[in-house]
Amino acid sequence: MARIRIFETPAALAHVLAGHLARTLTVHPALVLGLATGRTPIPLYRELARLHAAGRADFSRATTFNLDEFLGVGAQDPRSYRAFMQKHLFGHINLAPRRIHFLNGAVHAGREVQRECDRYERAIERAGGIDVQILGLGMNGHIGFNEPARALVARTHSVRLKPATRRANAPLFGNRVGAVPREALSMGMATILHAKRIVLLATGSTKARCVERMLAGPVSPRLPASFLQLHRHVEIWLDRAAAARLGGP
Ligand code: GLP
Repeated sequence: MARIRIFETPAALAHVLAGHLARTLTVHPALVLGLATGRTPIPLYRELARLHAAGRADFSRATTFNLDEFLGVGAQDPRSYRAFMQKHLFGHINLAPRRIHFLNGAVHAGREVQRECDRYERAIERAGGIDVQILGLGMNGHIGFNEPARALVARTHSVRLKPATRRANAPLFGNRVGAVPREALSMGMATILHAKRIVLLATGSTKARCVERMLAGPVSPRLPASFLQLHRHVEIWLDRAAAARLGGP
């Protein structure tokens, strides 16, 4: 059963979760963190940066793996997820650069893509697996870039993005949907579900319906996030607006 935590505001959620992660780092300095992009985790990253500046969060021995990256977009490109992470988190904390792991979007189609995906899977394995995976929730129920489909892919792979996902990511590309890559690389469903602990964040009323289906609906590849129901240690951190359709307190 997923553990659900509901906060009055996204800021309150970020504050508590950042404090919690900072304490986890104190007990387990070599923590392996899975990280997500998108608007939702930005307040969390801001809080982690603040705690680091205050001497209360030390990432010097931690390792990170991000979930996904656009295909055809290199790490140096300001529109890449790698650049997003640099701007919102990595540039403000003391992670060792060699322990920051990212899918390289600058690979070319075919075998090179497959090699890059295999490399990422092996790197995660070598790090001993992901201890805590932070997830956002796509409007269509995707996690990472595992889009709704008839069947889902287990391991890190290239994926064709849905029009809704390209629209949601347009702000990174000067609000031009046409400029958003059609493909991306993403950890697969099994890669995500093998994390020892998963913390999914969802805030805002636009996520309420999706949160309800994720938790109460059938486990279906039409809503990839519903597979989280199969994980033993999953926590769903919500603000009131995202929790609006769940009922209860
Ligand atoms: C992108 C990312 C996802 C993220 C999702 C939600 O598509 N690939 O990992 O969870 O957006 O974004 P937001 O938090 O902006 O709603």
